[in-house]
Amino acid sequence: MSNVYYPDYLQLEKILGAQAPESDKHGTPAHDEMLFIIIHQSYELWFKQILHEVGSVMALFADGHVDDNGGELSVAVHRLGRVHTILQVLVKKIDILETMTPLDFLDFRDMLRPASGFQSMQFKILEARLGLRMEARFGKQYYTSQLKPEHKAEIEALEGETTFFELIDGWLARMPFFDAAYWPSGATPLWESLKSIYAGSLVKGEEGNLALWEKLFETGEGRHLSPAAARSAVFIMLYRDEPILQMPFRLLERLMDIDEAMANWRYRHVSMVHRTIGLRVGTGGSTGKQYLSGALNSHHIFQEIADLSSFLFERRKIPALPDALRTAMRFRS
Ligand code: HEM
Repeated sequence: MSNVYYPDYLQLEKILGAQAPESDKHGTPAHDEMLFIIIHQSYELWFKQILHEVGSVMALFADGHVDDNGGELSVAVHRLGRVHTILQVLVKKIDILETMTPLDFLDFRDMLRPASGFQSMQFKILEARLGLRMEARFGKQYYTSQLKPEHKAEIEALEGETTFFELIDGWLARMPFFDAAYWPSGATPLWESLKSIYAGSLVKGEEGNLALWEKLFETGEGRHLSPAAARSAVFIMLYRDEPILQMPFRLLERLMDIDEAMANWRYRHVSMVHRTIGLRVGTGGSTGKQYLSGALNSHHIFQEIADLSSFLFERRKIPALPDALRTAMRFRS
């Protein structure tokens, strides 16, 4: 067996030979185009790693019975934590690109049309796999307009596939906390107790919030998260110190971390875009800052989990659980 050789193992000849500035081809070399290419390439490599992690976590949930009492949930939490850490670094990397001033960019910007990060297939695949559906998109008219037909078809096909959000919804919805077997007959159902504690906690200006409760936990109207999943998620948040709920709670936290980090990236990207090209349209044909700000505000994936914090209250008011349920939630050998 031949020895593994570092440059060959990493295929550095390919990677380090993959920077071909357009400005060189035009005979007007622009110093900053190397930075521009390398930063995009490094983002794409990290997108690849994120997709690798997210795909593996989706596979754990895909068979419909991730083992909450075994190692799978811990693996999922760990890998999603890694995704979050990568995203935090990707947000920070915008600092490097901001060392390129508008004039530096203008030296080669027009040579790039109509190429744009808007054509990043991996970014689009990530959004779609996580759960951003076409109907929820801001600026649908641009979304696939600049893609090659085969890429457009690939993105459209993803619309028919199960998303990570849906897998999480299914996992939450099947949790058995409210099964009659765990609750003494005749006792006030937990869900009614929680609703009345919540109703009693509303302050001036929140009078309409009981309708919100009904929408989220009873009808699901206008929501992506099903009422059963929303109820389980609140249960996990309230009773998170029960041994079996610790991992599910951490998983919910990771999902909110990822959503927040993606929004932070969008915010840093649009700010950087604003200071670099002002109010000009993007090379990818969108309205530029206006499109990106719309995407920042509306392209959340797990935000409905964060909404559930509205329905939490002080620990001392949390109803005690029946013994049968507490016993069922302990680890047993
Ligand atoms: C000077 C630097 C940059 C400028 C001026 C810029 C500008 C823009 C603009 C105007 C858009 C909107 C689509 C369009 O009309 O083109 C866009 C989208 C996008 N850019 Fe950048 N960008 C820059 C750097 C980057 C970098 C380093 C990445 C990293 C991969 C990136 C990734 C993206 C992605 C993924 C989108 C699509 C976002 C979405 O649909 O929500 N951009 N960019």
